[in-house]
Amino acid sequence: MAEALQNYIDGEWVEAADGGRFDITNPATGEVIASAPDSGPRDVERAIEAARRTFDEGRWWPRTSERERGRILLRAAEIVRREHERLARMETMDCGKPLAEARGDIAEVAFMFEYYGGWATKVHGEIPPVGPGALSLVVKEPVGVVAAITPWNYPMMMAIQKLAPALAAGCTVILKPAEQTPFTALEIPRILEEAGLPRGVLHVVTGFGESAGAPLVSSPKVDKVGFTGSREVGRIIMRAGADTLKRVTLELGGKSPNIVFADAEFEAAIEGSCVGIFGNQGEVCSAGSRVFVERAIYDRALEAMAERTRAIRLGDGLDEETTMGPLVSREQQERVERYIEIGGGEARLAVMGARPEDPRLSGGYFVPPVIFADVDNRARIAREEIFGPVMSVIPFSGLDEVLALSNDNDYGLAAAVWTRDITKAITTARALRAGTVWINDSQPAPTEAPWGGFKQSGIGRELGAHGIEDFLETKHIYVNLSR
Ligand code: NAI
Ligand code: MG
Repeated sequence: MAEALQNYIDGEWVEAADGGRFDITNPATGEVIASAPDSGPRDVERAIEAARRTFDEGRWWPRTSERERGRILLRAAEIVRREHERLARMETMDCGKPLAEARGDIAEVAFMFEYYGGWATKVHGEIPPVGPGALSLVVKEPVGVVAAITPWNYPMMMAIQKLAPALAAGCTVILKPAEQTPFTALEIPRILEEAGLPRGVLHVVTGFGESAGAPLVSSPKVDKVGFTGSREVGRIIMRAGADTLKRVTLELGGKSPNIVFADAEFEAAIEGSCVGIFGNQGEVCSAGSRVFVERAIYDRALEAMAERTRAIRLGDGLDEETTMGPLVSREQQERVERYIEIGGGEARLAVMGARPEDPRLSGGYFVPPVIFADVDNRARIAREEIFGPVMSVIPFSGLDEVLALSNDNDYGLAAAVWTRDITKAITTARALRAGTVWINDSQPAPTEAPWGGFKQSGIGRELGAHGIEDFLETKHIYVNLSR
């Protein structure tokens, strides 16, 4: 029997005002496993009202001390650790990723709570000198009511990466998870309630972008929107937020270069390049989807990546043998399949992996891993974000050419560089227009370091010390000491 999920508004579990619901499917089988409230503007308005009231009455900030805010987040970290396996399985059922990857996500979620729990007591102001007759106090205050709008590829991580710093900063929050993946989002209120979060601070409203997301962005009672998702919706949010001059941070997509120089440690570069595009089924904003390989090792590298790719085992993420799960939805599967068709007309198909054989998975949203070789950097499959397990391999000769090719894209989220030459590695890292550059690695995004995009990959930074900054306002208090 499918589970009927509910919204969490002002400390209560509630249905959508008009009782509407939509189905949640298990991407490995296509079966309906739950339903969630199809919320609309009325539901969103209730959540906003409650979050606004809680903030304006000062029930979270400033009446709860920094220590208490920090302790609540630290307790939440422990609860997530206690429930680690259950949450990981839930995440796999919801979005399809292999359990081993979901376990990694949930472990990082626990750490995010811990990390920002520590930050609650470490947000300091400043005292700039303004002469003998006055005292200037620069204090940091929460930005207010925050709307967090999140995607489906790392459902719980993307939510906590916004929520934990927002709560540490003293904001109240409304979370609107992706319609495909509301499971773990709805666990967050239970976890934070047990950790001692006062009523009214956090609200979770499920539903679709236009009906449940857009009213959050247009509301004059919401101070800030933190969004992760497509570039297209990022643009809509920026425009819609303009009327109320909303603070907006956007974490959008990418078409990240992965550069393999001929002097790279070969095995590590091959393995890392494959993980960079096939991890999480390629549904990763920072996926290394453009693999540039220096001509001297091009054929050998292509063959090694092909071999590594043929060994990938597609299956149900809950099966421990599975190394690649299904895509999140039928829609995403079809979108990626269309790109594979387009790629067939633009480049040479070097590898197409196998679909799972298990008949129980015949309704699942599987797309086998694909490698296109000899891709032109101007081809659509090299320019546009595919968000699936599709690698484009592009040959290059020398540093100048690869820098020009790498930077010739509207996105600028991340990049990877593989070489043994430290000077070349750093020179390349500095010249790449990207928010994160990995040297001899691909994809690590530690909670302690900033994350975000150059160019059209986004605005603002999450994680690390920067990740709390965007949830704070700066206030100057000037004291005249001569009166
Ligand atoms: P999307 O950008 O439409 O959805 C992300 C979130 O935004 C969801 O919670 C959705 O309900 C919400 N949303 C949608 N329209 C909205 C609106 N008008 N106002 C407010 N909120 C709105 O992503 P979608 O359609 O699921 O995926 C499409 C493509 O986006 C993918 O193929 C991929 O290329 C990219 N994407 C990038 C992600 C990233 O991590 N940067 C994550 C998910 C998708
Ligand atoms: Mg969409």
